[in-house]
Amino acid sequence: MAATNRRGGYGQTTCFLVALCWHLASTVATEQSCTLETDFKDDDFPCRKWLHCRQPTDWTSLSAEIKTKSENDRLCAIVVDCANTVTISNFDFQTIGGQFGRVLNVTISRCNATQVSLADDMYLVVELGLDGNAFDSLDFLKDWQSTEFEVLDFHNNRLRTVRQTDFANFNHLSSLRLDANHITDVAANSFLNNHELVSVNLANNRLQTVGERMFAGMDALKIFATGWEQNQHFGRRNVH
Ligand SMILES: *[C@@H]1O[C@H](CO)[C@@H](O)[C@H](O)[C@H]1NC(C)=O
Ligand SMILES: *[C@@H]1O[C@H](CO)[C@@H](O)[C@H](O)[C@H]1NC(C)=O
Repeated sequence: MAATNRRGGYGQTTCFLVALCWHLASTVATEQSCTLETDFKDDDFPCRKWLHCRQPTDWTSLSAEIKTKSENDRLCAIVVDCANTVTISNFDFQTIGGQFGRVLNVTISRCNATQVSLADDMYLVVELGLDGNAFDSLDFLKDWQSTEFEVLDFHNNRLRTVRQTDFANFNHLSSLRLDANHITDVAANSFLNNHELVSVNLANNRLQTVGERMFAGMDALKIFATGWEQNQHFGRRNVH
């Protein structure tokens, strides 16, 4: 009789512990939005670990996760996708205090962001993706004139103009996505210094006229201005 009771007691304890552990595990799982993945591969730079953060709840918890993971593992990419479920206006990597000396790729998608500041040790970043946010100007780029950007993706934002200085110091820029913005004009000589630029996507903007010197200085054979025809079509349609 006593033994049966004791077994019953163990059973209840086990059930209680399993339930508690399950509860704790699921609580922790919902609080973490970032997972460490290991299939990132850069041909020029052997680098494997990247952090993929899906639908973070706010900047405070997201930045804490990024800090922990970047201190424990040498990250080569940080990819955040808010999937339009939350607004995180300011991605200020300078305040995180992590270690970003190997990060090659920073991608922030669909967060309604308007500001981003790279940390001082993010000097290797070659790809910056900020698609699906709320950037209305490229002013934030002026702080990063010394970085090594090769790929910039600003598609699906609210950019209105491209100024001559915006990309002036990005000598290694090869691919630029500016499609699906509200761009009405691109200043002459905007890409004068971008000798390695081979692709500029300006589709789905509000360009009405094509400045003669918009692509001045670029090797004409290398220009691949995707969506150019759509822009001109859009312009013509508006004229009639
Ligand atoms: C950077 O990350 C984004 C998002 O995962 C990806 O689409 C892009 O290809 C990456 N760039 C490189 C150079 O790996
Ligand atoms: C995006 O952010 C602005 C403030 O910067 C806010 O007014 C707007 O509601 C946000 N949009 C969404 C879809 O969260």
